[in-house]
Amino acid sequence: PALTSCLLPTLKSRLAQPIWQLLSCIANEAQDRGWNLYIVGGGVRDLLLTEDDKPLLLQDIDLVVDGFHRAADDRSGVTLANTIREKYPQSRLSIHGEFQTAALLWHKDPILDNLWLDIATARTEFYPYPAANPEVEASSIRQDLYRRDFTINALAVRLTPPRKQEFSRKGDLLDFFGGLIDLKARKIRVLHANSFIEDPTRIYRAVRFAVRLHFTIEPQTEEYIKYAIDSGVYERLRLSDRQAPALTTRLRAELKYILQAEYWKPALKLLADLGALRCLHQDLQLTPQLWWEIRCISRWLYYLDPENQLQHWLIRLEILICSLPTSEREIVAVNLQLPKDSIQRVRQLDQIATEIIPQLPKKQLPSEIYQLLNSYKYVGLILLGVRSSPEIRKILWQYLTKLSQVKPILNGNDLKELGYKPSPLYKQMLNDLLAATLDSKITNQQEAEAFIKDKY
Ligand code: CTP
Repeated sequence: PALTSCLLPTLKSRLAQPIWQLLSCIANEAQDRGWNLYIVGGGVRDLLLTEDDKPLLLQDIDLVVDGFHRAADDRSGVTLANTIREKYPQSRLSIHGEFQTAALLWHKDPILDNLWLDIATARTEFYPYPAANPEVEASSIRQDLYRRDFTINALAVRLTPPRKQEFSRKGDLLDFFGGLIDLKARKIRVLHANSFIEDPTRIYRAVRFAVRLHFTIEPQTEEYIKYAIDSGVYERLRLSDRQAPALTTRLRAELKYILQAEYWKPALKLLADLGALRCLHQDLQLTPQLWWEIRCISRWLYYLDPENQLQHWLIRLEILICSLPTSEREIVAVNLQLPKDSIQRVRQLDQIATEIIPQLPKKQLPSEIYQLLNSYKYVGLILLGVRSSPEIRKILWQYLTKLSQVKPILNGNDLKELGYKPSPLYKQMLNDLLAATLDSKITNQQEAEAFIKDKY
């Protein structure tokens, strides 16, 4: 492997001090047990990628421990995490996978903020070598890195001093697959031809990293992506497949990541260019019309929901799904395990369109428009508006931005003060007030009171 000079001083100076202390503490625990500890993945990539004088802000840290147990049930990672948990009682421990991976989480911690620390145990398939053999170290961390997605994510920095005869030194960069060269050339490259077949979500990850880091997907890797898609890798996402639920959860997470990122537009374009939208449905294509709709809905959401109360990424996904034939929409939404109201929206869109669209142009008064639309959910109307003709779209926009926000000028208490006894009639009175307000027949409290007294 290519070895560079010691990276620990760089790591120390660029990480926030409490994080550095935490890593040192874990490294000491590993060292006391005679184990090797490495920081791997995104943390190393970002360390090498960002400028030297910039702080390295990590929220997710991936560590790999090699406990030299050489057994399938090696729990070194879990042991280490348990020990750290005792020293950091504010953290939460979660163990996933049967034995091998533990995570320590801090939630809104005053010092460590929302840190997520994964400690994986290096793949320790049985090797017939004695543990001190340098090749053993090389093969177990190498194997762990080889299972990863891209060369730029398959770099490791050793955090513990070596045992006798081991090939790398503390602080060395372990780069078995040319990750450093690819980082410098800004290339996304997989480690082996089957990578996307084994894990189709990596297609989405390749796009995400390429767009986010301003890298390109190198040609051979792009070929592998296209091959994986052509060979129907996404068939495995159908619910009937045994692997589907786990795969779908990961795919949905990647979709969310991409569709909520500020770079969602180039990322979606790239996914479409690679043919990767086929993972949602074989006929899904980013036509000019759909591209227009998704940008339009994003602008609408930006304007209508500046506080981000709605899940914009999910609504973008819904507009993609709604470009499919009616009968397919619900299947895709269910396959992706979208939330219930999301499934309902894509299922009901055509129904609400047939209820609303023929009626809407006939409505002259704002109060009539309000009455027709009031019983429909807000996001459903957004979807409908973006997909409708300009005439309908304009009216829906008027409703969403203005009419739906109008409140009656008087409330129940005001009616009481006017001398009306509380009764079911209040509802009628308030509705009348609202309609009159919408139609600009009344504009202030005085007019409202006069309106009520006149009518009731
Ligand atoms: N990984 C992988 N295949 C996947 C998902 C993850 O090989 N489908 C590996 C990669 O080596 C990655 C590591 O697991 O570096 C951690 O995954 P994740 O936290 O999702 O990626 P990061 O590289 O940390 O990316 P980010 O900066 O976006 O958190």
